[in-house]
Amino acid sequence: MTTIYHLSDLHFGPKFNSHLSELILQDIRDAKPDLTILSGDFTMRGRVSEYQEARAYIQKLPKPIFTIPGNHDQPLYARAIPERLTNPWRRYKEFIHETVDASLHLADIFVVGVNSNNRIFPGGIWNLAQRKFIEQEFLRAPKNVCKIFVTHHHLEWNGKYRPFGTWFPTQQLNWLSRLGVELILNGHTHVPLTLQTPHGIVIAQAGTSMSSRVRHGHGNAYNRIVIGADSLLVQVMGYDASADRFVQQSEKEFSRQRAEKIA
Ligand SMILES: [Fe+2]
Ligand SMILES: [Fe+2]
Repeated sequence: MTTIYHLSDLHFGPKFNSHLSELILQDIRDAKPDLTILSGDFTMRGRVSEYQEARAYIQKLPKPIFTIPGNHDQPLYARAIPERLTNPWRRYKEFIHETVDASLHLADIFVVGVNSNNRIFPGGIWNLAQRKFIEQEFLRAPKNVCKIFVTHHHLEWNGKYRPFGTWFPTQQLNWLSRLGVELILNGHTHVPLTLQTPHGIVIAQAGTSMSSRVRHGHGNAYNRIVIGADSLLVQVMGYDASADRFVQQSEKEFSRQRAEKIA
């Protein structure tokens, strides 16, 4: 059994809620998960001060940690525009993780994550080199691991509205399915969403964990995921103001699709 805590859209900077960050830190310390995944948007504007705070927070979290960047992690303010255009991930690499695309093998899971952001377009795009990286990493994964893909942008939005980003989600899902991906984790929309695609891939989209930039009536939340030999459980942990803690808001359990899918 593998337990993952999945947080997204921390957004250090304006509208950051430090009280919630402390509650979540304590939750993760108490739970001692096998892995904590942070799926991007560590800062609001990519300022150095925001990155310093994000780094200090991440250093307090139990290890191991897996991260990818979000669109807000590229600097976006007048003086930093030249850096955004020429070297948008320098600060992410300095303060958070040395690469923007990453993979991690831990006992029963194999995680691949890529930078889905673009310095000009809304994002949700992977270039050819990233597609090769994704393919090569998943193909080298041992048999019988749960293959997990992490992206900042959404591949599903449940038909309610379409946020900015992600251009060819259906083709991307078909391709990830052929690579044997069982679970996709993302953020960006600030709206929690758990569903299973027709391919059998489970998508767990996390809300914003600790920013007051909540959207569409959804509060702050993070995901708690438990992967068993035959099942995949996704619990959305939402902030309950009256109890002043994160409580389980929903729970969905799925059968794992164990069939060999690689063509
Ligand atoms: Fe965000
Ligand atoms: Fe985002």
